Amino acid sequence: MPEAVSSTSSSALREAVRQLWPELQWVKEPGLLRQVEATWVRAFELSPLQPQDLTRIPFTLLIPNCPTTFMEHKRCVVHIARRSAEAMTEFMGNALKIDLDTVVAGAILADVGKLLEYEKRDDRTVQSERGEFLRHPFTGVALAMECGVPDAVCHIIATHAAEGDLVQRTTEATIVHHADFMAYLPFKSAKNLKV
Ligand SMILES: [Fe+2]
Repeated sequence: MPEAVSSTSSSALREAVRQLWPELQWVKEPGLLRQVEATWVRAFELSPLQPQDLTRIPFTLLIPNCPTTFMEHKRCVVHIARRSAEAMTEFMGNALKIDLDTVVAGAILADVGKLLEYEKRDDRTVQSERGEFLRHPFTGVALAMECGVPDAVCHIIATHAAEGDLVQRTTEATIVHHADFMAYLPFKSAKNLKV
């Protein structure tokens, strides 16, 4: 991992991460909660972005003039994933064992690597050189492993996007993958947009 670029202290970043992610309180296992928070803090330490940037920048660079912010998209994915896991447990819990903490932690961390994909240039947010070499599923896993995140959650980060189509996803990873695409694919058609 490269040296840190952020000058903000770790405790200030931890507080900022908690502000960005009210959904962290859904992670019940204290050790996992600490690891998820630490991963986001580490990502900000290495990123040119500040926590407040995530409430402003578009969630993807693949859609021109994307009208939805990073945090709006990411929080929506966590909510979809959690409710989906709950519904599947309610109706199919006899057949499928779903770990809700793993789903929530994986959904919160799925795009953490994007903090290393962006670069600020002339007041614009563009793809970084690292992002061209390493998409966020790869950098996300590197950040999470550095912070002790369990393999089952790293698996979700690794497989949440198209790269994961080559992997047999766990049930938890399948849920997060589909939640992510539910909140992404409609944006690919201009017909679906309100503006
Ligand atoms: Fe992603």
